Amino acid sequence: MTRKRVYVTRQIPEAALEDLKEKFDVAVNPYDRVLSREELLEGVKGMDAVLCLLTDTIDSEVFDAAGTQCRIFANYAVGYNNIDVAAASKKGIVVTNTPDVLNDATADLAWALLFAVSRRLVESDGFARAGRFRGWGPMLLLGRDITGKKLGIIGPGRIGFNFARKAKGFDMEILYTGTKPNAGMEKQLGAKFVDKETLLKEADFISVHVPLNPSTKHYIGEKEFKLMKKTAILINTSRGPVVDEKALVQALKSGEIWGAGLDVFENEPDIEPGLIELDNAVIVPHIASATIETRTNMGLIAARNIIKVLNGAMPETCVNPEVLER
Ligand code: GLV
Ligand code: GLV
Repeated sequence: MTRKRVYVTRQIPEAALEDLKEKFDVAVNPYDRVLSREELLEGVKGMDAVLCLLTDTIDSEVFDAAGTQCRIFANYAVGYNNIDVAAASKKGIVVTNTPDVLNDATADLAWALLFAVSRRLVESDGFARAGRFRGWGPMLLLGRDITGKKLGIIGPGRIGFNFARKAKGFDMEILYTGTKPNAGMEKQLGAKFVDKETLLKEADFISVHVPLNPSTKHYIGEKEFKLMKKTAILINTSRGPVVDEKALVQALKSGEIWGAGLDVFENEPDIEPGLIELDNAVIVPHIASATIETRTNMGLIAARNIIKVLNGAMPETCVNPEVLER
């Protein structure tokens, strides 16, 4: 029997590919960069499974290029806004993602950004390295308190919950908003479900944990920044387009809010000009899940999903299970 073929659109931690290589013929993008559209269309041709990234736009043209034998696109991310899932379902292609294993890493990075912005860590580090430290100063690089403040969570899903849970050590009051109340947030964390406007008006820190879809695009924009406290700090580790980046630059420049910590951007890898120059923004290049352990575990889930589907079994984390129920 000829071995089934798997295409991997970018090198991921090798440990995750070992099992796949044992069972299938695996081809990996040889370049250390995102594939061009042409390379992607060529690469997937004739494959039985594709392990793809959030930086790949996967739509019906890609599914057609792969061919009717193709069973699964395993996205190496929890978010799957890069994939036209409806088109996949129509063609009977399974789409999977990598939830849960990155909850801690993503929540940890959101906390790192929260600390970095409120205590001006990046600015302070630059100051010290530039040789400008002339001694302790009563007014030097003053930030804002964290302990005892009010935390606002937008999207109490797996990551939002995990992020909120870690606030317990800082004696914070937790508010959250979303499409519906979440029993775990209330019972385990004593968090309070409020409407969007109340959260924006009252929270000292606002952290965004919603998936990107048409209803969350520009969920935070000019109107929302006006509602926030002048001392508010916004953290975004979800998807860039959830925040209107032009409005954010304005809000940071005009002092409408105090600061922002950003892992994601509206037009990645481009960053809104103006944002780069602002000291009250801490900017990192989409690294929330970027730990050796987490990226390996994400790869292992994607690999197990591929192995299961190509062997006719149920994948662990399917986002279009209706395909499997047929
Ligand atoms: C990363 O952004 C992910 O969705 O996993
Ligand atoms: C978002 O994808 C979440 O897991 O909360």
